[in-house]
Amino acid sequence: MADPHAKMTKATPQEVMVSVVLGLAAPLIAIVLILFLVDSIQSEQIDVDSPEIAEKTVLRNIAPVARLDARDANAPRVERTGEEVYKAVCFSCHDAGALGAPKMNSKGDWGSRIAQGYNKLIDHALNGIRQMPPRGGDPDISDIEIARTVAYMANSAGAGFKAPEPPAPPAAPAKGAEPAAAAPAAPAAAPAK
Ligand code: HEC
Repeated sequence: MADPHAKMTKATPQEVMVSVVLGLAAPLIAIVLILFLVDSIQSEQIDVDSPEIAEKTVLRNIAPVARLDARDANAPRVERTGEEVYKAVCFSCHDAGALGAPKMNSKGDWGSRIAQGYNKLIDHALNGIRQMPPRGGDPDISDIEIARTVAYMANSAGAGFKAPEPPAPPAAPAKGAEPAAAAPAAPAAAPAK
């Protein structure tokens, strides 16, 4: 009985070469395609080492949040009360007397300070004094808020300071002036019958 494999095993050297080359070509093509894919993905990435691009990236990334947080610069500013500002910022030192800060409600701590007068205390709260940072370290606190907060704090320890009111909102046009301005300048403009 003849060997059934006898025919198949007789491959010429050329056939071997061709099958080896083709066998290698397939994975090579696959590798090249993968490299192309990786390269195209990377070219979409951003070079964060460039400060300009990094800034743009940050701005783009925070845009949804930043937009929600955007405040209308023209909106009238709502001044907080002294108590609100105190509880937001000043309490952190003045509740417990950190760094030697005069404590709320402590006549002993505040007595000599109150004696300097309201304006001097406001000046020190605005500009800082020794360990007391300017505006308690929060530049967003307005002058009026500082004045109110100083009154709130000093009054807790026996002072009788009167906090200033915020400036009145821009006055509405005087009532008498309105009809004159609104009246049509030339009655002739009315459509003729
Ligand atoms: C980081 C801690 C800290 C914070 C926050 C802070 N203070 Fe003070 N403050 C101090 C210290 C310390 C002193 C005492 C300074 C001194 O006389 O050496 C002081 C003193 C004061 C005085 C008395 C100044 C004087 O002339 O005797 C006032 C008024 C005052 N603070 C107001 C405020 C107000 C208003 C805020 C919040 C907006 C605030 N502080 C937030 C630490 C702080």
